[in-house]
Amino acid sequence: MKAFRLAPITLGIALLSAGSASAADPATINWKSVPAKTLTLFYPAQSSFQWLRGADHPGAKMVSGGEACLTCHKDREDALGNKLVKANKLEPTPIEGKNGSVQLSFQVAYDKENAYFRFQWKTRNNYPGEAYPMLRFDGKEWKPYGAQKLAAPVRKGEQPAIYEDRLSIMIDDGGVPGFAKQGCWLTCHNGERDNPNQASAADVKANPLFQAIKRNDVRKYLPSTRTDALASWDKGKSLDEIAKIKAAGGFLDLIQWRAHRSNPVGMADDGYVLEYRNFDAGKNPFSSNMDPKTKQPRFMYDAKKTGYKALRIEDIRKKPTALVREQNAVPFDPKAGWKEGDLVSQYVVSRADATGSAADNKQVKGVWKDGMWTVVWARQRNLANPDDKALREGKVYNIAFAVHDDNVTSRGHLVSFPVSVGFGAKAAIEATRLK
Ligand code: HEC
Repeated sequence: MKAFRLAPITLGIALLSAGSASAADPATINWKSVPAKTLTLFYPAQSSFQWLRGADHPGAKMVSGGEACLTCHKDREDALGNKLVKANKLEPTPIEGKNGSVQLSFQVAYDKENAYFRFQWKTRNNYPGEAYPMLRFDGKEWKPYGAQKLAAPVRKGEQPAIYEDRLSIMIDDGGVPGFAKQGCWLTCHNGERDNPNQASAADVKANPLFQAIKRNDVRKYLPSTRTDALASWDKGKSLDEIAKIKAAGGFLDLIQWRAHRSNPVGMADDGYVLEYRNFDAGKNPFSSNMDPKTKQPRFMYDAKKTGYKALRIEDIRKKPTALVREQNAVPFDPKAGWKEGDLVSQYVVSRADATGSAADNKQVKGVWKDGMWTVVWARQRNLANPDDKALREGKVYNIAFAVHDDNVTSRGHLVSFPVSVGFGAKAAIEATRLK
């Protein structure tokens, strides 16, 4: 517990001493001078792109014609979420006791270098979701242990519910047709993980697009990357055509703060949505801790610093679980006397190893206190990478938010309708210009 409380303090000092002009610490901003907007995020269940255009959705015709969700669902987020989170035709595997909505407080400011975001939301649990599924020694081998609440082994009671809390931001600069009106629902499709008609591993393996991009499951994608009107997962365009869409700016920025895999090193990840949910070029702050050759972990906890080389299940929620390469990790020792039930993290987190466009979000810090996450974030405004959206003065962006709370991933999140955010421009939310 002590080590966990100490980590954010050390980090604060590291950020301040970084010292370069673009490295403004978002924690030092006078947030009281920046208005807060409260957004209601709600549980979308399996309301996919295809369902919204089908016979069971009364708004289907208008949605196909490009109408905004808010035309018919304004101020209905709570009602939608509370219905969809319980058993219904859009939710085959409801999570017991899950909240249908959450209030997300959002503040945004900017100066010459950066956009600054501050978020607050209440967690359902009286602990921060800082843990991620682990690797567990079963007496012979190291195997994944724990999973999100929507996963079958957790629903059947075979595995504990463990997953990290997350905050996601999707940004459109007007380059993605329809995003301003229909937001996230352009990216959520039948065939994806946890969605209706989830594509089988064999079908994905046999598909030309997925062969070309070397992916073995279906995740978020944009309709523009498919050839048919219903944007089917398996009707991908060629890589050439997809590259042209990207070069023309027809993709979404998707940046995610992760309580286990980025927060311990003061970062968020950086990705984009196009034909798949991609990560930006370079290296993420997190990478797998499983060595594919030895089938053993690459790192273990540094007992000299933490007091333990592995955790036990009863330690989860009590001790910090993140394995940070430059803070509390040492190379794995196969002869360290491992016992059945020993746990080490599935991922290694590192600020030092993160590089390139994937490492753009280096000024992000979340603190959980009294049942609430507060996340502050500085994002450089003038990013010139081909997989980022620069945030320019005088421009309006369409932004959508998601929170993953209470040990869920994939579609188990709470999401917002899209909202316009202006930087020195008229919009539903106008960023405060800092001196
Ligand atoms: C032309 C009006 C209209 C538009 C536009 C529209 N809807 Fe609907 N939608 C309805 C009506 C009417 C219902 C059924 C009553 C209700 O739940 O509000 C409905 C139901 C739903 C439901 C199921 C809720 C339930 O009660 O089972 C979801 C989810 C939904 N809409 C999402 C969306 C999303 C997301 C968009 C934008 C992409 C959208 N709708 C656009 C009219 C519309």
